[in-house]
Amino acid sequence: MMDAVVRLDRVSKRFGSLVVLDDLSLEVRRGEFLTLLGESGCGKTTTLRIISGFEEPTDGAVYLNGRLVNAVPAYRRRVNTVFQNYALFPHMTVGENVEYGLRFDRVPRRERRRLAEEMLARVGLADKIDRQSTALSGGQMQRVALARALIKKPEVLLLDEPLSALDARLRKELQLELKRTQRETGITFVYVTHDQEEALVMSDRIAVMERGHIRQLGRPDDVFERPETLFVAEFVGASNKLDGRVVEIRHNSVIVALPSGDRLEAPTRSAGDLATGTDVRLIVRPEHLRVAADSSAATNVVRAVLEDIIYLGSDRKLTLRVGERLRIELQERGDRLPPCLGTRLGMTVDIEIPPDALYAFRKGRGE
Ligand SMILES: Nc1ncnc2c1ncn2[C@@H]1O[C@H](COP(=O)(O)OP(=O)(O)OP(=O)(O)O)[C@@H](O)[C@H]1O
Ligand SMILES: [Mg+2]
Repeated sequence: MMDAVVRLDRVSKRFGSLVVLDDLSLEVRRGEFLTLLGESGCGKTTTLRIISGFEEPTDGAVYLNGRLVNAVPAYRRRVNTVFQNYALFPHMTVGENVEYGLRFDRVPRRERRRLAEEMLARVGLADKIDRQSTALSGGQMQRVALARALIKKPEVLLLDEPLSALDARLRKELQLELKRTQRETGITFVYVTHDQEEALVMSDRIAVMERGHIRQLGRPDDVFERPETLFVAEFVGASNKLDGRVVEIRHNSVIVALPSGDRLEAPTRSAGDLATGTDVRLIVRPEHLRVAADSSAATNVVRAVLEDIIYLGSDRKLTLRVGERLRIELQERGDRLPPCLGTRLGMTVDIEIPPDALYAFRKGRGE
């Protein structure tokens, strides 16, 4: 496919007996912002290193622009990387850092300076060009690192957790900046993070990784609202887990009995074959649970005991116990809750779960 800037075809990577990437295929489209999202150790950095050429796959093929590059060394690929730890040269000024990569491309001095100015203006640091690079804040250093990578006009820019050393507020600010820069330059970004919120905010598409596999690849709303596996449903977005057993099969749904005796109807979606008696896990997001106003009218209702209530500004977060063992969280606007709730820990409330908000998955190890 011509539009794939990067294509990994059945790539595996082993270190001795350790399988780090397992038969992984991935196409990155031209001009997109694609994020590899996964827990520590799932193989994100290794995937980037294989794209950049710092690491060779044990098996499989790597294509850049449709060309097989397995044997092409890193410095011959038009791929640059931005790392978590900035990796600026401390003895150089900001401008010298940014233009550094052009010295080997026989770009004249003046032109290098002009391009460095242009790139620094893009990241909002035009006035810092003659500063010593050690005299910058973390956020500024990361902007310089970005300018230094962009000046090379890479075909693909790889970003390995570039914001994880920054505090939360700065991280949010830079997320939007990076996204804007990506859009304006049209450069293909492959971004790595273990922060699902960051992935949802920034990406055109997200590849959810687990133990060397891509479990789902799709738009943020796909992976958030239409998770295909239990792993993806639990990993992306805060979720409540309700374990139960299928007691009845209906046309497009199943009835699940919880240990508490409550029964819930859940659409089957991608749950696969669920026979009566199958152990399932139901996933539901805290923001989809409601305190039932009138329990007699509602269909999917569980009785729960209020254990805690936390003030979050306009929202409240409730922790509730269902039966003996299940604990659920509910997030709701404060003005939608009965006013007496805050003072009545231990009270019994009816919680309504819209069937559409429930995801049923067969229990047991993910694929
Ligand atoms: N050169 C190497 N030799 C041996 N094992 C390695 C090597 N590089 C990586 N690994 C192992 O491969 C696995 C995946 O590593 P990788 O760095 O790709 O994970 P990651 O998803 O980037 O994790 P993190 O979020 O912690 O950065 C880990 O178990 C790691 O210890
Ligand atoms: Mg890593």
